[in-house]
Amino acid sequence: METLKVDLGDRSYPIFIGAGLLKKQSLIAPYIKGKTTAVVSNTTVAPLYLESIHQNTCDYNNTDVILPDGEEFKTMDTLSQLHTEMLTARCDRKTTLIALGGGVVGDITGFAAASYQRGINFIQVPTTLLSMVDSSVGGKTGVNHPLGKNMIGAFHQPQCVIIDTDTLNTLDDRQLSAGIAEIIKYGYINDLTFIDWLDENMSKLMKRDPIALSYAIKRSCENKAGIVAADEKEAGQRALLNLGHTFGHAIETGLGYGKWLHGEAVAAGMIMAAQLSKEHGWISENDITGMRKLLKKANLPTSPPEEINAERFNELMSIDKKVQDGVLHLILMKKMGESFITNDFDKQALKKVLGHSN
Ligand code: NAD
Ligand code: GLY
Repeated sequence: METLKVDLGDRSYPIFIGAGLLKKQSLIAPYIKGKTTAVVSNTTVAPLYLESIHQNTCDYNNTDVILPDGEEFKTMDTLSQLHTEMLTARCDRKTTLIALGGGVVGDITGFAAASYQRGINFIQVPTTLLSMVDSSVGGKTGVNHPLGKNMIGAFHQPQCVIIDTDTLNTLDDRQLSAGIAEIIKYGYINDLTFIDWLDENMSKLMKRDPIALSYAIKRSCENKAGIVAADEKEAGQRALLNLGHTFGHAIETGLGYGKWLHGEAVAAGMIMAAQLSKEHGWISENDITGMRKLLKKANLPTSPPEEINAERFNELMSIDKKVQDGVLHLILMKKMGESFITNDFDKQALKKVLGHSN
């Protein structure tokens, strides 16, 4: 087992990575402070892994809350349903929530923990590759709004993150690829050596080679933990983690939540960010060709869906968390492996990229 740390002073917490960790009762116990737990999962993950979690919670008064599965259920309604079940089960301020599932379950559960009785503890047990390498780490929690993705939420850090790589055995190939998109993202933000490694090892990742997967998960979590420790509430540098996301969130919202997977939208979004960077002369067409090749090796899309035109993209992107005082900020690439946040970009060039005409 590997152990990493998210260094946030008295709110620091460990990330445990390894095979078979769900069955290790001694791992989770120190992070459950009170006598009650509530395991939050969904209709797909619960039949697979709830039993293993129960073995860890048998010393506690435990309630299970099983949510419907899907990005389209990452809503205030589902959050309210979760709050109702917690109140009915008499969860109190010492209850620990355990999020068992992908990023949707993790984000909703984290927000429930942030908001229930003004804040209770929670533990992340991510079961998709995407949630292992991104959403379970860093304390961003929340739900979608029909007008914008992840628009309602809070920063609330978990007590620990338990990544059992065995759970990836049941994940389908499309979801695996979506997770790889977020792994690739770390490379293009500021870790080109990792891109070289990914180029060489992509076929191993796609074949779920356990050593390659563990390495990619560990390196991604290290990258994320470092950025979160430096800028927990996104005053600056943390925004880099959103490379491709302003375009990607527009795709997800524009198509209707759940049509494209989050990782797929981020993959196309990274290419759009790269195209805009190229329009400014910061990176070359060759660089973009390399990005496309890598994303394609992971079976990821490299262009946005036809049905969203420039006008609709503009409309969708005007509701983004990186709009400040009405001004859109984007994560672009100063050069390959050096992303930065800026509002100083050519509006005509953006229009060209949004019109898919690169
Ligand atoms: P998801 O939670 O919808 O999971 C994908 C699918 O896989 C679901 O159907 C789920 O039930 C199923 N599943 C989960 N684990 C499984 C397993 N082990 N075996 C079989 N099936 C399994 O999607 P996701 O990609 O994990 O997460 C995407 C969400 O994460 C988006 O809502 C996105 O906004 C959010 N996100 C949040 C952050 C953050 O920092 N909080 C970062 C990135 C993404
Ligand atoms: N996934 C973006 C962030 O955690 O900041």
